[in-house]
Amino acid sequence: MTRVVHSRADLEAARAGRFGDTAVVMTMGALHEGHLALIRAARASAKTVIVTVFVNPLQFGPNEDFDRYPRTLDEDVRMCEEAEVDVVFAPAVDDVYPGGTPMVTVHPGAMGDVLEGAFRPGFFGGVLTVVNKLLNLTAPDVAYFGQKDAQQLALVRRMALDFNLPVEIVGVPTVREPDGLALSSRNRYLSTEERTTALALSAALAAGAQQATAAGIRSAARAVLDRAAAADPPLGTDYLALVGPDDFLEVADDHAGDAILAVAARVGGTRLIDNVPLRIAAAHPAGGEKNGDEAR
Ligand code: PAJ
Repeated sequence: MTRVVHSRADLEAARAGRFGDTAVVMTMGALHEGHLALIRAARASAKTVIVTVFVNPLQFGPNEDFDRYPRTLDEDVRMCEEAEVDVVFAPAVDDVYPGGTPMVTVHPGAMGDVLEGAFRPGFFGGVLTVVNKLLNLTAPDVAYFGQKDAQQLALVRRMALDFNLPVEIVGVPTVREPDGLALSSRNRYLSTEERTTALALSAALAAGAQQATAAGIRSAARAVLDRAAAADPPLGTDYLALVGPDDFLEVADDHAGDAILAVAARVGGTRLIDNVPLRIAAAHPAGGEKNGDEAR
C-alpha cells in the first residue's frame, strides 16, 4: 500500500516502525516511464521507497513554465501504487520553504554556470537547494537521478561530495521512445509536427555517437541540428556541446576518454534537452597498426 503524505510530520509518521534502508526518487510529478525506471531501481535496492512529487518554484525562471507545468498527482499516485512505492511525499510550497523565499541557498559553482545554467540563470541553484532540502526531509540512504538530466546528476553528485552528505547518489540511464525521443514530462506540450522536429535532438546525438573523434562527433551532430533548423516547424538549438562528465567543460578536439554529448533546443514553445555518454578512444598512429596487431 502506498501512503500519500503532504507534511513533514506525516512523512515521519508514515516511516515510523519501518526498518532497513531507504531510497528516494525526487520528481516534479507528471510521471512517465523515465521516472518509473528510477523507481524500479529504487524498489529493487531498498526496503523503503519514497517518491517525492514537488514542482519546485525556485528552479523556474520568470518566463518559464511553472504555472503550466503538468500537475497530475492522482495519476502519479496510481503509478506509484503499481510500482509498489511505500510513500509518496507531495509537500506544499510552505512545507518545503517554511521561511518563505529562502535567504540561504546552495551555490552550484562553475559547473552550474555553463550549458543549462547559462540558458537558465539560477536554475541549478534552485535545483540543488530543493534537492538538499528533500534529502534532509526524507533522510535516504540512496537517491536515484536520471542520466537524462546529466548536468543535474553531476551537480548533485558534486554537492553530495562537497557537503559530505550521508547519501549515495545513483544515476539511471535515459529511457527513450522507440524512435529515440527521450521521455520528458514536457513532451506532452508537443503537437505531432513539433514532435517530429524534436526527433532531431536524439538523431543528432546518435549521429555524433557514430564518430570516432571529438571534432567528428561535434560536426556530425551539428549537421543534423542544422537540417532541423530548416524543418517546419523549425528547431532552434540553444547549445550542442561535447563536455567532460565531471565538469561540463568542452573537451579538446583530440580528447580521449569519457565525454557527454549534450543538446538543448526549442520547438514551438517547448524547450527540450537530451544527452548521450560517450567514450572516445585514443587515436592510434597512422597506418592502421591497431588492426594489424589484432590480425597477428
Ligand atoms: P523531473 O524532471 O520530474 O525528473 C525527475 C527525475 O527523473 C530526474 O532525476 C530525471 O533525470 C529523471 N528522468 C526524467 N526523464 C527521464 C528519462 N527519460 N530517463 C531517465 N530518467 C529520467 O529533475 C527534476 O524533476 C527536478 O529537477 C528535481 C530533481 C525533482 C528537483 O526539483
